[in-house]
Order: sequence, then structure tokens, then C-alpha cells
Amino acid sequence: MRKPIIGGNWKMNRGTPAETKEMLKKLLPLVKKITNVDIVIAPPFTALISAIDLVKKSNIRIGAQNMYFEEKGAFTGEVSPKFLKDIGVTYVILGHSERRNIFKESDELVNQKLKKALAMKINPIVCIGEHLEEREAGKTKEIIQNQIDKTFKDLTKEEIIKTVIAYEPIWAIGTGKTATPEQAEEIHVFIREILASKFDKQTSELVRIQYGGSIKPTNAKELFEKENIDGGLVGGASLEADSLLDIIKAADETTI
Ligand code: PGA
Repeated sequence: MRKPIIGGNWKMNRGTPAETKEMLKKLLPLVKKITNVDIVIAPPFTALISAIDLVKKSNIRIGAQNMYFEEKGAFTGEVSPKFLKDIGVTYVILGHSERRNIFKESDELVNQKLKKALAMKINPIVCIGEHLEEREAGKTKEIIQNQIDKTFKDLTKEEIIKTVIAYEPIWAIGTGKTATPEQAEEIHVFIREILASKFDKQTSELVRIQYGGSIKPTNAKELFEKENIDGGLVGGASLEADSLLDIIKAADETTI
């Protein structure tokens, strides 16, 4: 019912025009026949224009890794959603844990960005997830509830349906330590329960919820097979065409 979505978050790891071209030229023919999975690549800002150019007329969409909630003004160092939209960006990752932890982005700020992305018709992928200490203290659900309350505040039903949620336990990001499919599924079910109580059951079942955190070709399938996991947000393994392809294929297989 929900189309899986695979996002490749290159972070600040790849993104010169040459690197972007090399990776996308390799990936494009390999994913040409994939129609049951939405594929989004999020390179650094400096590579967006060349990436958009390269994927024209293909089934790959290009996303930004961040944006500001104002369209214009004295905001040195920020990037306007209007500029992104203008060059053909169709997705944006918001509230990634690296933005939240290193750059101190709050739930309130992510909420403002989310509303702006929705208003500008840029598809948002919004990240939430707990720290290791919070999980070990048995606080995961409390943290998730709180993040959802604040990050998705005042959204309409139509808006939440257009939002992709990425559940990314922070302890699993870039650590090689993946959540087990059961651990991930438990939180995805919980997220759906929260959405059902905020909106209604039908709405909660339409929202796509990705898992993120050390997804690899070797663990992708067992994660995506879970009923409530609708694909993934991939960091390290999205840097090379071959590993990303295997992950996309794993998502594709769950749709058959
Ligand atoms: P990772 O990153 O796959 O390298 O753990 C995931 C993410 O940060 O979105």
C-alpha cells in the first residue's frame, strides 16, 4: 500500500562535481527499471545543480540535506527553500540528528522548516530518534513521543501524509550497529500509534516511515520486510552505486 522510499544521504562525504557525476552515471542505468521504489539522492548543496542535471528524465529524485524556513533575507550561511525549488530540488532532509546534535537544531526549528517545505511543495524527510543513553534508560518511547509532538506540531492530515518520517536511532548512525528488525519495527508501530491518536488510523497507515542507521546490503532486506518499515535513509552505504543498488533492490523485492 505504501511505496517504499530509499534516500541516499551523502552528508559531507561525497559531492564534488566529479564525484557526483561518477556515482550517478553508474547508478542511473542500474536502477532504470525500478518503479516500485522512490529513490532520492541528497548530495551537498554544491552538487545539487549537477546532480539534478544528471538525473533529468530518470526515476531518481534529488534532495537537499537541509534548508531554512525563510525564503529571503539576512540569514548568512542559510539556504532558501525558494532557491532549492528553483533549481529542481524535490525533497529535503530535515532535523537529521547531526543537525540536531552538532548544530543544535531544536524540534521547534525543525517544525518551522517542515511547515515551510510543505508550503513550498518540497517533500520533507524528517528524522527522529533516541540517543543510546535514552534507550538504555528505557526512555525511547518517551523521547519519540516528545519529538513527534513538537516536530509535527500543527500539521494537517494532508500535510502529515506528505511527510516521510525517518526513524534513526542515533546509536545506529555511522556506527555499524544496526537496530534489529524487531527493535526498529517496534518503534515504527509506536510512531503509527501516535499518528493514529493525533490524526486517525487511516492517516497513520498512509504515512511512510523509513528506518535509518547503518543500513547495508546485508541487513536491508530483513529490515524492509517488516510491515511498518517503508524503506530507509542510507548514509555510508549510499556513497557507492553498487551498495546503494543492493539496498534499493531489497526494498523493491518487498513490493512483489
Ligand atoms: P549511516 O547514516 O547509514 O551511515 O548510519 C544514516 C543517516 O545518517 O541517515
